[in-house]
Amino acid sequence: MNIAVADIEAATDEPPLYQLDENPLLARQARQESNARSYPRRIPLALKRARGIHVEDVEGRVFIDCLAGAGTLALGHNHPVVVEAIRQVLADELPLHTLDLTTPVKDRFVQDLFGALPAEFARRAKIQFCGPTGTDAVEAALKLVRTATGRSTVLAFQGGYHGMSQGALSLMGNLKAKTPLGALLAQGVQFLPFPYDYRCPFGLGGEQGVEVGLRYIANLLSDPEGGVQPPAAVIVEAVQGEAGAIPAADAWLRGLREITARAGIPLILDEIQSGFARTGRMFAFEHAQIVPDVVVLSKAIGGSLPLSVVVYRDELDKWQPGAHAGTFRGNQMAMAAGSAVIRHIQEHDLARHAEQVGEHLRGLLQALQRTYPQLGDVRGRGLMLGVEIVEPDGEPDALGHPPLDPALASAIQRECLKRGLILELGGRHGSVVRFLPPLIIRHEEVEQVAGIFARAVSAAVSAG
Ligand SMILES: Cc1ncc(COP(=O)(O)O)c(C=O)c1O
Repeated sequence: MNIAVADIEAATDEPPLYQLDENPLLARQARQESNARSYPRRIPLALKRARGIHVEDVEGRVFIDCLAGAGTLALGHNHPVVVEAIRQVLADELPLHTLDLTTPVKDRFVQDLFGALPAEFARRAKIQFCGPTGTDAVEAALKLVRTATGRSTVLAFQGGYHGMSQGALSLMGNLKAKTPLGALLAQGVQFLPFPYDYRCPFGLGGEQGVEVGLRYIANLLSDPEGGVQPPAAVIVEAVQGEAGAIPAADAWLRGLREITARAGIPLILDEIQSGFARTGRMFAFEHAQIVPDVVVLSKAIGGSLPLSVVVYRDELDKWQPGAHAGTFRGNQMAMAAGSAVIRHIQEHDLARHAEQVGEHLRGLLQALQRTYPQLGDVRGRGLMLGVEIVEPDGEPDALGHPPLDPALASAIQRECLKRGLILELGGRHGSVVRFLPPLIIRHEEVEQVAGIFARAVSAAVSAG
């Protein structure tokens, strides 16, 4: 796209320059909350109100929220259809908590969810409601496939993120959260290279990188002396989120599906972050037109309230009654809100909208790359985008790409926040600036986001 930085900056008025100073709530939070708290360290805000893509802090300052509850708020904050669905549950005096007993709200939610999944998968699918977080759905999926196959190990991918409970954590690529724990409770995970095109683990990239990656996996699974036991499953994100918005090539995901099907290994798609239209399809695996064996879902599925499920091919339904219990599996408000979100996404074709607006934002970010070589790679799908920040003069890697610059990424994030834009970091050493706005964001609003980002990059680069 042939757009100048000045044009991108001009899309928005000169943004305010907020002082990110301490206020009493933040000070108290720092004193009383655990050392493990995370987001407040990089996003030191005390929020009081939110609507659509905007949040307001206790000082009345307004921010564009491109974190959106880590991708949870598909329709943004307090969308009228979500608020109405929650109100209706209260007005009807529905039981707010039902364990896993059924209700009309739950029944409708399951029909809506199955209606949103590809028919070929939904036709033979079973659903298990899990404890309300994504990580618990991952735990359930692990138990399901281990019981069904009688095998215990799992293949996961470098860079993968599946949650923070001990089983899910053992599937995580990032070592930071795992190392202090020593031996994890769930051992038996083998990591495979993910097709991270910009930093291709084979130093190849492109089609060649995809081909070699698939050949590596196929060989590992078929070589009788490969040292890897037949696993209970392969778990993968079609677009790695926390690793910095890294999409797997469609050909790679199709190849992985073929290899696992041939070897009789269940394929688990973790759509917790990429699901519900975020990448431009209802589910990110649909880009590759594959049918998984198991899908884990959370975040957007509860319309901003906690909810998680695992949906799977019926032949895997071998576990026993109570095999994955949990008290909080019956959140009626979350199911009502989830139904409202699914229907709104379908009625307004938000998948297409996310694809188009995402393309627009990506084009603007790519245009900035011409001026700022520090923006090493702009990537992602739909409204799950990332910009990998690099040190242009550093020693290039095998593919000729400069090294990461986590300090600059962090400075850019802070400069954005000062200008009223909330963005999160991800990727290796937190070097990727991530864009995860609500799917309802409009074209003129992504221009505003790009405008603020451009000014923030300029400020961070000149300060550095
Ligand atoms: C792909 C993916 N899987 C699992 C999880 C874990 O979900 P939760 O944080 O709700 O446990 C996340 C959270 O970011 C995620 O992005």
